[in-house]
Amino acid sequence: MSYPYQIKSLEQYHADYKRSVEEPESFWASVAENFVWKKKWDRVLDWNFTEPKIEWFGGAKLNITENCIDRHLATKADKPAFIWEPNNPEERTRVVTYARLHKRVCQFAQVLKNNGVKKGDRVCIYMGMVPELAYAVLGCARIGAIHSVIFGGFSAQSIADRLYDAQAEYIVTCDGAYRGGKDIPLKSVIDDALIGNRTVKRVIVYTRTRTPVSMIKGRDVWWEDEMEYALEQVEKDGVVSFPAEEMDAEDPLFILYTSGSTGKPKGVVHTCAGYMLWTTYTFVNVFQYQPGDIHFCTADIGWVTGHSYIVYGPLSAGATSMMFEGIPTWPDAGRFWDIVEKHKVNCIYTAPTAIRSLMNFGTDPIKGKDLSSLKVLGTVGEPINEEAWHWYDENIGKKKCPIIDTWWQTETGACLISNLAGVTPSKPSWATLPMPGVQPVLVDENGKEVTEKDENGILKGNLCIKAPWPGILRTTYGDHERCRTNYFATYPNLYFTGDGALKDEQGNYRITGRVDDVLNISGHRIGTAEVENAINMHSGVVESAVVGYPHDIKGQGIYAYVIYQGHHGDENSTRLDINLTVSKIIGPIAKPDKIQFVKGLPKTRSGKIMRRILRKIAEGETGNLGDTSTLLDPEVVEEIKVGRQ
Ligand code: WTA
Repeated sequence: MSYPYQIKSLEQYHADYKRSVEEPESFWASVAENFVWKKKWDRVLDWNFTEPKIEWFGGAKLNITENCIDRHLATKADKPAFIWEPNNPEERTRVVTYARLHKRVCQFAQVLKNNGVKKGDRVCIYMGMVPELAYAVLGCARIGAIHSVIFGGFSAQSIADRLYDAQAEYIVTCDGAYRGGKDIPLKSVIDDALIGNRTVKRVIVYTRTRTPVSMIKGRDVWWEDEMEYALEQVEKDGVVSFPAEEMDAEDPLFILYTSGSTGKPKGVVHTCAGYMLWTTYTFVNVFQYQPGDIHFCTADIGWVTGHSYIVYGPLSAGATSMMFEGIPTWPDAGRFWDIVEKHKVNCIYTAPTAIRSLMNFGTDPIKGKDLSSLKVLGTVGEPINEEAWHWYDENIGKKKCPIIDTWWQTETGACLISNLAGVTPSKPSWATLPMPGVQPVLVDENGKEVTEKDENGILKGNLCIKAPWPGILRTTYGDHERCRTNYFATYPNLYFTGDGALKDEQGNYRITGRVDDVLNISGHRIGTAEVENAINMHSGVVESAVVGYPHDIKGQGIYAYVIYQGHHGDENSTRLDINLTVSKIIGPIAKPDKIQFVKGLPKTRSGKIMRRILRKIAEGETGNLGDTSTLLDPEVVEEIKVGRQ
């Protein structure tokens, strides 16, 4: 498979970019010609950002799994689609060829059908990083069910909320998952999430850890039994098939919940055609994928990065995608490099937080490892600091591999701003140039485009995008108005990203971080309001305020100011109790790193918490806290400063 739309030079990038902006319809139609359609589109694009309404390839019919699997069977049946590396390095690697993937996805689609799943039904997937997770995702896409993958680190309560929001009737899970030295009892968490649930009809359980599980009669079934039964239905005379459901271009493909600045996560909805094009186009261009390369995205499929760059983008491009079950520091901090050496990985794509944590172990874990197969290094999820960038460049890429700093969001489907590996220049800690079709603009608080440069020629503002690209979110599940107010109402006729950014005179962008109340903890998005709600659930907590502060490894840490009444042991045991509450309500990833007990919170006369002040104190600023004259009770601030953790 060659990629006629692969950009090969800086000149071509500029030419393609220009064409994509001036003639978006013909530009994207020519890219779309490289995909398999059951029926071609009537019109390429129809949009307005006021409702918002965004339709790409209206009238077209397709199934994304025919693009990700079937179309490769003629030439790549025996080539690996996935290479799976288990948590425990002593366990056997699994290689899933395109033919095997086709068989398993057809089988699992049949399992879903046998269990009553129909087009448009919501299927929640809560599994560890095993190939079966990819079969489940693709099996849903095959029959047109909408998958909602939930990261294995979320608590029962978080799952229950997401099940309810999506009105999901089906769940696919594992008995347990291995992550480093830990076994996580996934099915047991699902059981807790289902207490009181009235919508879920069926839970399909894949055996991974052989942890004891409770299987409820009439509701819970084993993956293995179901797959065996389904095989007889999909295989005839050695030929496997399962019809791929005909989907409209704009039918939902999946829901993925993500945090925003309100207390409740939103179900971001992506649709079939636009998402397929965008993940494939960016995969081929940003990573400069060459057929035969082995692509290793270290993310979990529970996050958007795993959806787009482990599953859909690579498979649609006919690539070989590494899938790793474990964590970078187990059994030791050389695990990524062992995997690179063992499988001759050509591209590794990871988060700055992982790089920083591995940096802390020094270079010993890298010594003696052959990393010469690497051609491209990538980062995603948060701003990368220059120190980590250079460490990655020198120790992993040996100064020979371009580093791509890819900026994007759950809502954008795939990369929007990134250099193209080896084709457009990189600049440490800058995401650099927009992808074709992406028109960024920096605005001030009133939505006016910023024009005033600082003495270095840099513009600074809130990052918005002027027009839709194929992978933009279409709605938030069950609540379109929420989508409008969250992304399209802050500044009229612009998509607002929630991020701040700089732009230099060459047109490069540097993302400086969120400008709303969203934290980025180890590359994971968590809303401050969400954490506050969880803390406030703890008995004895009167009120709380949560802010981020700079953290050496995680990028940002969670700092909570808590007004607590009541007695239960000393402050430290109360901190542990509050942390446990947060773990139960959201999951361990949202546990505050620091909890400071305070008597009051700095509020304006209208009762609004002045987070700006709390943020400064958490960051260690004790001098200038800015204007505090509008505070109801300025004394509170002095007391908070003294008690800083
Ligand atoms: C941040 C992850 C700086 C940003 C794909 C964004 C980044 C949020 C970068 C989305 C980057 C992601 N440089 N910041 N290269 N990539 N971010 O939805 O704040 O989990 O808004 O998507 O991560 O996080 P999400």
